[in-house]
Amino acid sequence: MTKATLRILSADSAGLADAASVLQRGGLVSFPTETVYGLGADACNDNAVARIYAAKGRPSFNPLIVHVPNMQVAEKYVIFNDAAIRLAAAFWPGALTLVLPLRPDAEIAAHVTAGLDTLAIRIPDHPVAQGLLQAFDGPVAAPSANPSGRVSPTTAAHVVQGLGAEIDAVVDGGACAVGLESTIVACTEPPTLLRAGGIPQEIIEQCLGYPLARATHTETPTAPGQLASHYAPRGTLRLNASSAHEDETLLGFGPVEADINLSPSGDLTEAAARLFECLHQLDAMGARAIAVSPIPESGLGRAINDRLRRAAAPRP
Ligand code: TXA
Ligand code: MG
Repeated sequence: MTKATLRILSADSAGLADAASVLQRGGLVSFPTETVYGLGADACNDNAVARIYAAKGRPSFNPLIVHVPNMQVAEKYVIFNDAAIRLAAAFWPGALTLVLPLRPDAEIAAHVTAGLDTLAIRIPDHPVAQGLLQAFDGPVAAPSANPSGRVSPTTAAHVVQGLGAEIDAVVDGGACAVGLESTIVACTEPPTLLRAGGIPQEIIEQCLGYPLARATHTETPTAPGQLASHYAPRGTLRLNASSAHEDETLLGFGPVEADINLSPSGDLTEAAARLFECLHQLDAMGARAIAVSPIPESGLGRAINDRLRRAAAPRP
């Protein structure tokens, strides 16, 4: 499919049928999930998947998550072990991605896994994502719908700003409720946390009854959490700031005088849902130097701090 001008589709059955036919023709459709907006393509079409990498400017060694509507479809593509069955039962549909052995006969495009023999897979819990998966009736590969290294989108407007010139359509389903990407767990022995995300590590460990292993750093990143600089707004970030210097804009948390506040009441769920919107707003305000209040390192705070540390990291 050649690139057309961007169309904004409504999140009703006509819009979803339209979006599904764009996917069928090898096009790129951004759609809302409960975590962030994804940039979707037919996961069985190598050319379509190649367009995702081109649109995002994403390194080709960084594999994609495949989205499916239910367990029955998931089982066509990956092999579940006991831990995976337990986690899927507890958290799917939802903000958890499992990395599992790819079935040798799975017809997933080679570009999706970037040559790995495992596949990252997720059942999203958003009616629009579910509606699109059902209308398309196939697996959809979808990274977050932002240019590589930039802040992830939590509204259709963010997608249009970042990738409007590169993609065929966006289904507008409003703001994402969770606001942070999914937690990624590789179901190896023992299961390993690859990326903190929308479901807190503690809750996953409670479900398993034992701690998750932590990924060690390797040359080839197996999750974006291992790319040092990511999620970056245009301004620089200074973390754990009790107050802002004269030339800084304060991104607050809790009861502080701030230019923008993630959650004046200090609620981590609210802060997670607002984090990327606030970073987009700081870009729009032209903030050059951003100070950020301390965020507790527990529950969703771990994923928020993970994103903030990467946003603050030196950029390539
Ligand atoms: O919430 C989310 O996970 C969103 C929505 C759209 O589902 N997607 C998302 O995708 O955050 P992305 O591409 O921005 O991050 C997914 C990461 C990839 O960057 C990759 O490093 C990791 O998942 N990944 C994919 N396949 C993998 C594999 N086989 N083994 C290890 N990590 C993998
Ligand atoms: Mg991403």
